[in-house]
Amino acid sequence: MDYKKNILCIGAGYVGGPTMAMIAYKCPQYKVTLVDINSQRIEAWNSDQLPIFEPGLDSIVKTCKGKNLFFSTNIESEIKKNDIIFVAVNTPTKDYGVGAGMAADLQYFEKTARQIVACAETSKIIIEKSTLPVKSAQVLERILEASDSNVQFDVLSNPEFLAEGTAMNDLENPDRVLIGSRETEAGIRARNELVEIYANWVPKDRIITSNIWSSELSKLIANAFLAQRVSSINAVSALCEVTRADVTEVANAVGMDSRIGSKFLQASVGFGGSCFKKDILNLVYICRSYGLNEPADYWEQVIKINQYQQDRFVFSMIRSMFNTLAGRKICLFGAAFKANTDDTRESPAISIAKRLVEEKAHVVVTDPRALNNFEKNLIDYPIEYEDDPYIAANAAHAIGIITEWDIYKSLDYEKIYRSMVKPAFIFDGRNIIDRQHLFKIGFNVFAIGKPELTHYK
Ligand code: UDX
Ligand code: ADP
Repeated sequence: MDYKKNILCIGAGYVGGPTMAMIAYKCPQYKVTLVDINSQRIEAWNSDQLPIFEPGLDSIVKTCKGKNLFFSTNIESEIKKNDIIFVAVNTPTKDYGVGAGMAADLQYFEKTARQIVACAETSKIIIEKSTLPVKSAQVLERILEASDSNVQFDVLSNPEFLAEGTAMNDLENPDRVLIGSRETEAGIRARNELVEIYANWVPKDRIITSNIWSSELSKLIANAFLAQRVSSINAVSALCEVTRADVTEVANAVGMDSRIGSKFLQASVGFGGSCFKKDILNLVYICRSYGLNEPADYWEQVIKINQYQQDRFVFSMIRSMFNTLAGRKICLFGAAFKANTDDTRESPAISIAKRLVEEKAHVVVTDPRALNNFEKNLIDYPIEYEDDPYIAANAAHAIGIITEWDIYKSLDYEKIYRSMVKPAFIFDGRNIIDRQHLFKIGFNVFAIGKPELTHYK
């Protein structure tokens, strides 16, 4: 079959997978191929058991796979065959050398750039999808330009704004699609080529273009602003608890101001995910590298509050459970960093489980989707894993709700209470349970930014 365009994506993970599936679904006239160095991942994409869980992804992949959506490990031959190449490899925080713990680790990105140079025989449009430090496009351009061939490369920045758990809807109805390019004739031609792809389903007024540096920076700033809202409301939650105000009521009153808006004001045990912390650390590192220490300190505080919020959750358990957790069974409801994903990167559950083990508690973690990924983060920790929340909570002294999965809202808490050691405690890190109801059942109830409900005299 003859396709109108051939599109390649290098990196078949949480970003590349759903994004390419949506392009294939919306553009049956294009051939879309995903490649990855991880052959197990590619095998999984080619099977019925996809390597990532994302609501709605399964059915779209099923519709397109084998028709205009393909998965392969032949990176080199696919680079040769495709002239539009998205790069969606991972760019975690560096854990070694200069900038360790702050800067983005560009080794996968750099390797990909070199591989493209080595294989390309015809001109290519290279699109940055991975979140990258500002000026990464320049790095890419320099590597590409250093080749002897007269192949032409045009680099575009097209940051991904999808959130996990709602990725398919975010991709289908994006608030905006941002495309950054060089303002040269070739840059604008490349940009138009990408606009044409998205215009298959995204209204034209939502496809915005900018210079390439603005595009790269916008991704970091969008995430910094979102994370900042979560840290702001979480900072307020601490104040609510001591003043006996209710953070939900405060967020509601504040969010109804249309200048502020109601989204991302859900107080929680802390934000997680692969982007927020990494992008802010990156932003802080960039500010410092330009000598901008005050802006760097300002953004760093968003991360500090996030850590504080997770620490506070554990302190609250220790304090209210008679200052010792040693030998006591504590059950964590949720391992994923948010509901509707199996992703556990930077999940608050990780730091909380570790802290509880350090307190010598007997930790049991349950989650409907994320236990496999979670275990990999905590290999050396003696933690028990259990799919069934009722079994997980059996004979526990306390439950900590870490992820806002719907199932945890409607469990039979009377049954759970009966099976627990008394006095029984529940710590709601997501404010999803009916506190008064659980208090009436007999629980001592602690929730983020809410007055505690205890049966003590
Ligand atoms: C985020 C951005 O939203 C997305 O645009 C970007 O492309 C990638 O980073 P993601 O990390 O997938 O997406 O999820 P998001 O919904 O933003 O949630 C991040 C974290 O913040 C989660 O742990 C979530 O539980 C937490 N959160 C979010 C809160 O604690 N309270 C809120 O009100 C909102
Ligand atoms: P993200 O959330 O950014 O999509 P993931 O880790 O889920 O992050 O996906 C990134 C993917 O990129 C991984 O599957 C990884 O194997 C792949 N990858 C990393 N380096 C390369 C490379 N040089 N060539 C091809 N794929 C790569």
